[in-house]
Amino acid sequence: MLTITCISAFLTIASACGLPSGVEKREVTKTAIQNVHVWNGNSFSPNLSTVVFINGKLSNAPSLGATVVDGNGGYLLPGLIDAHTHITDCAYLDAMRRYGVTTALDMGTYPVSSIDACRASGVTDIRTSGAAATVNGTLISQLPGFPADSLIPNPAAGRRFVRNRIAQGADYIKVFLDPLGPDEATLAAVVQAAHAAGKLVVTHATTYADYSTAEAADADFPTHVPLDKAIDDPSIAKLLSNGQVSIPTLIMMQSIVNNTGAPPVVYTLNAQGSATNMYNAGVPILVGTDANANPYVPANPPFGSSFHDELKLLVQAGVSPVDAIRGATSLAANKFRLYDRGSIQAGLRADLLLLSADPTEDIGNSLAIEKVWVNGVEFDPSA
Ligand SMILES: *[C@@H]1O[C@H](CO)[C@@H](O)[C@H](O)[C@H]1NC(C)=O
Ligand SMILES: *[C@@H]1O[C@H](CO)[C@@H](O)[C@H](O)[C@H]1NC(C)=O
Ligand SMILES: *[C@@H]1O[C@H](CO)[C@@H](O)[C@H](O)[C@H]1NC(C)=O
Repeated sequence: MLTITCISAFLTIASACGLPSGVEKREVTKTAIQNVHVWNGNSFSPNLSTVVFINGKLSNAPSLGATVVDGNGGYLLPGLIDAHTHITDCAYLDAMRRYGVTTALDMGTYPVSSIDACRASGVTDIRTSGAAATVNGTLISQLPGFPADSLIPNPAAGRRFVRNRIAQGADYIKVFLDPLGPDEATLAAVVQAAHAAGKLVVTHATTYADYSTAEAADADFPTHVPLDKAIDDPSIAKLLSNGQVSIPTLIMMQSIVNNTGAPPVVYTLNAQGSATNMYNAGVPILVGTDANANPYVPANPPFGSSFHDELKLLVQAGVSPVDAIRGATSLAANKFRLYDRGSIQAGLRADLLLLSADPTEDIGNSLAIEKVWVNGVEFDPSA
């Protein structure tokens, strides 16, 4: 534990703390954001207070010696976590940061090494599944360069797929469910292999039947919502007993309905209705956009800004603003086991979003963005 004498701005730990020679010297920067209402996971502090971070980590240290940022009575949130994106170009991360999204969970970019190339200081942090699994003949199986080992016609191929993705450095496993397959036994083999290796499983599911397959195989994150029929009580009972978490991506579903000319009730009754039913029954809901720039898919929610559309659509579906914010921060971090972020607590990453207005009063205030910090590196959207 450092003491106050060691953490004045711009000293080096080695010289300030008298560490033995040979210890790597590292510049220490300390920042204090003052005059802010601070999110505690459930609400904002009624009183204005100060949040301190040192070299990218939140700290309980006093603000003495810190570079001061005046929060002007604003509202300080943990950085937002988009639980469904497709980062096929590192530049998309800039747009996400501009909109306060400090963690992007990629759901299908390949190879995994192309995601690693996007990692840099002060840039929205990424996790990825690498290429999703599917069967031959689906939309994604026909994308240019789609890897052959992602085709899983049977359980053995499913297990091999899991081994390959983990060896490549995938953070979690993604399976694209489709009427063509994979079937329940194959998905179950994928889930068992992934869980045995300590990895979570995200499934694409845009029909009631695909949700049922995800439920039967106990995949961790059924993603999207059905467009053919709303999730109902029998389905919800399984989601709840399995402890499954939904990522509805309503902005994607609404965009698909609009772009394909489907009747608006397909969205309101089935997509939004599913989110409403799941939320009311207590199924945890995370905030994901499906932001992508893929010309082969029916809709392309923009990076960053669509996160705020998703928050609004979730609130329209009946999710309380507080729960929408939790789904965008602490709940997402907890469910994806990103225990170093998602809350404003000493020791966690200084991923922060400063708003000038209270998003629990009106979720539209999530766009009143003053400043963003990614791992302690400040970004000023107005600059
Ligand atoms: C908030 O401020 C009021 C007025 O200064 C003070 O009485 C109260 O104790 C403070 N509450 C907290 C939780 O700090
Ligand atoms: C996928 O299906 C097509 C069309 O039936 C076939 O030509 C191709 O060989 C199949 N690919 C694999 C990897 O099975
Ligand atoms: C879809 O269309 C509805 C009805 O016109 C509109 O309110 C909504 O904003 C549209 N959504 C998107 C994402 O285009």
